[in-house]
Amino acid sequence: MGIARPSTRPLQGRAYRQVVTLDYPTPALSDEVLRLRRWSLDDLDCVQEAGSDPAIPAHTTVPSLWTVDAGRAFIHRQGERAKSGEGLSLAIHHLELDRAVGLVSLMLRPQVSVIGLGYWVVPSVRHRGLAGRAVTLASDWAIGAGGYARVEAWVEPDNQPSHSVLRAAGFELEGRLRSFLAIGDSRSDALVYSRLAASVGRHIPPAR
Ligand SMILES: CC(C)(COP(=O)(O)OP(=O)(O)OC[C@H]1O[C@@H](n2cnc3c(N)ncnc32)[C@H](O)[C@@H]1OP(=O)(O)O)[C@@H](O)C(=O)NCCC(=O)NCCS
Repeated sequence: MGIARPSTRPLQGRAYRQVVTLDYPTPALSDEVLRLRRWSLDDLDCVQEAGSDPAIPAHTTVPSLWTVDAGRAFIHRQGERAKSGEGLSLAIHHLELDRAVGLVSLMLRPQVSVIGLGYWVVPSVRHRGLAGRAVTLASDWAIGAGGYARVEAWVEPDNQPSHSVLRAAGFELEGRLRSFLAIGDSRSDALVYSRLAASVGRHIPPAR
């Protein structure tokens, strides 16, 4: 993919990545229910359904007005994120349904070795623990094999499902950033959650 190889330097007794880009995890991250993989043009149905929940286009570039071209452009943008060094966007592939049902993204923050996490799941398969699984897989990798020091997420205070997802994946609430998020023409506070590399191995995901 023409991505620069990471360099490392010791930090608090451990070598953390100092990368300007992120590589796709190899092998692909998976558990018994889902696999996190690259987006493909076969995933248009997933993008279309995601656009049917206004909460998703409000925070992402998922098109709210569906056209096949807009769906293809969304999928193209996801692959470009790795090439441009912005981060990684992975499709949440449900193994039994054999289709994409959501997204988890790992974006490089300006701060060295810090990853920003994003995620959504299409409405028809919510409340099955899929976001919790995907966030656990992605964040375990980032602060484990990925070699990053910190994974963080910014969440609107009233997004209870998202708070539950993060807690289930072992994130800790750190605090509140006032008027931090721009959503359309309005602004919202953000609650900041994080997982740190030092916590690897402490978190045991709940049985589903
Ligand atoms: C947030 C979101 C990703 C959750 O996806 P999901 O696959 O339904 O989440 P899970 O099934 O893993 O549920 C995780 C927890 O949230 C809880 N939950 C799910 N939907 C909920 C709801 N509508 N209200 C309250 N709690 C809810 C579940 O009970 C579960 O809690 P538990 O572990 O204590 O039992 C999904 O609702 C979504 O895509 N929302 C729109 C986009 C979004 O808000 N993304 C996050 C941006 S920070």
